[in-house]
Amino acid sequence: MINKNKIFKIKKDRRSFLKLTTTSMAAVGSAFAIWPFIDSMNPSADVLALGSKEVDLNDIDKGSTKTIKWRGKPVFIKHRTDEEISQAREVNLENLKDPQKDEDRVIKPEWLVVVGVCSHLGCIPLGQKETDVKGDFNGWFCPCHGSHYDSSGRVRKGPAPKNLEIPKYKFVDKNKIKIG
Ligand code: FES
Repeated sequence: MINKNKIFKIKKDRRSFLKLTTTSMAAVGSAFAIWPFIDSMNPSADVLALGSKEVDLNDIDKGSTKTIKWRGKPVFIKHRTDEEISQAREVNLENLKDPQKDEDRVIKPEWLVVVGVCSHLGCIPLGQKETDVKGDFNGWFCPCHGSHYDSSGRVRKGPAPKNLEIPKYKFVDKNKIKIG
């Protein structure tokens, strides 16, 4: 004779098993449904590429500069002369508002790479064209409120509180840099 309690227990175990299986399948299903959404939150290769920019330095003669656009901002690339390098290195750091050695602002002395946005209120300083005024320190001059930057992009006079920012960059070969 079949024990009623035993039949009840078997039915209960089967129900629990079915419930567990269904819940697990639903969880796995949800994970697969969510994955494309999570995956879409990772930046694509295109987006990552937009964040960096390669610049060929071959066409920037010694003593001249080039402006490129990177992440919506101007970046000044200056091919410095020996004189501009020594001017930048002779400065007494105690006289600087935002003290920074020139050596710490460049990878190679002849190449200065800075974001061309004044640290005061965000104007674009003059000094990129040969005919531009370059301020009292042979670098850049921000005409908005009169900030002067030197040949290392350091603020030397005027209301700007900080030096021109150095973006993250590296040399990918002798004459090419990758910014970002
Ligand atoms: S924004 Fe450059 S000095 Fe004010």
